[in-house]
Amino acid sequence: IFDDFRISSTHAFLLVDVPELPSRFDDLVDILRNIAQLVRQKKLRCLINELPVIDTGDLVEYEILRHAHMLYSIVTNSYVWQDGEFQAPKVLPKQLAMPLTDLSRKVELPPVVCHASLVLANIIHIDQSKPLELGNMSLKYSLPGDKSCDWFFLATANVELKILPVLKTLLECQWSVEQKHVNEVTSCLCELANHIDDLTAAFMRMHEGLDANKFYHELRPYLGGWDKIGMIYEGVSDRPIKMTGGSAAQCTGVQAIDIFLQVQHNSMEDNSRDNEDLVLAYNKCVEAVANLRTNHIQIVAKYILIPKSQKQNGDFRRLDNVGTGGQDLIPFLKELRNLTRSFLL
Ligand code: ALA
Repeated sequence: IFDDFRISSTHAFLLVDVPELPSRFDDLVDILRNIAQLVRQKKLRCLINELPVIDTGDLVEYEILRHAHMLYSIVTNSYVWQDGEFQAPKVLPKQLAMPLTDLSRKVELPPVVCHASLVLANIIHIDQSKPLELGNMSLKYSLPGDKSCDWFFLATANVELKILPVLKTLLECQWSVEQKHVNEVTSCLCELANHIDDLTAAFMRMHEGLDANKFYHELRPYLGGWDKIGMIYEGVSDRPIKMTGGSAAQCTGVQAIDIFLQVQHNSMEDNSRDNEDLVLAYNKCVEAVANLRTNHIQIVAKYILIPKSQKQNGDFRRLDNVGTGGQDLIPFLKELRNLTRSFLL
């Protein structure tokens, strides 16, 4: 089943070490390698405006397409936000709009930065003789902002690595449910709760390397989309296209846990309430997810609310009260946590 959905048996949804692009993309790759400096010097938009439209029609290999999509999506967000939100362009030039749209259609991702481009396709395995883990991975491409902000994506990629045991256990558990092997279901659920705790612990490693002010003022604006203003994609559409930005809420693994618990909640409510161990194990999973949300709320407070209260970012106001993925901040997470807790048996 993993193969059917392009899930790696070693690192789940991460697409590690994407292959290099053909040489006609070299100029754009160079630009992206220097993106922080170009944006700081406000030179990126001029440079892009002078580039030709590069044909992406002959790219077919999936990993290459994902690399190209990552490249174009990061350059596009940097182009749009270089001069702050009040000077944002209304039109995305065809040099970016046309290839990005073509690539997005082919890989079924949005034409804007997203978790799949910023994190999933962006990881380099440094020493391949050792396991892929935080400390043995780096980013292929950074976003504008201080280099230390790479940690935001690396720590998130580390969370993705913890999705693998979660997925395997979910599948095992589902299989045991279908076979009506209650003891196996119980032990799978206990295992799942531990894997969710590991995932939370990985998430907490964000604190080790990410400075709240640098994240809030330097990196975060570039993660945002154009869900309110829209952007005309030149050569693609005459009307503004609205896109929300990149957010780890787009992480498939966490959504899979939510759906799994909801589905099991509905079937357990009917059949299994009288099995105390099973109910305990299930509730342990629900509590583990609620705990993940509590930690997420604390992260939002530290990395968004506190820096915002100390010094507003004058060039970027639209993300004051919403997440880069378009949701409310704390209310959204609290609602999610309440929803999770409503699954308790
Ligand atoms: N979704 C995160 C935020 O809103 C990145 O800052």
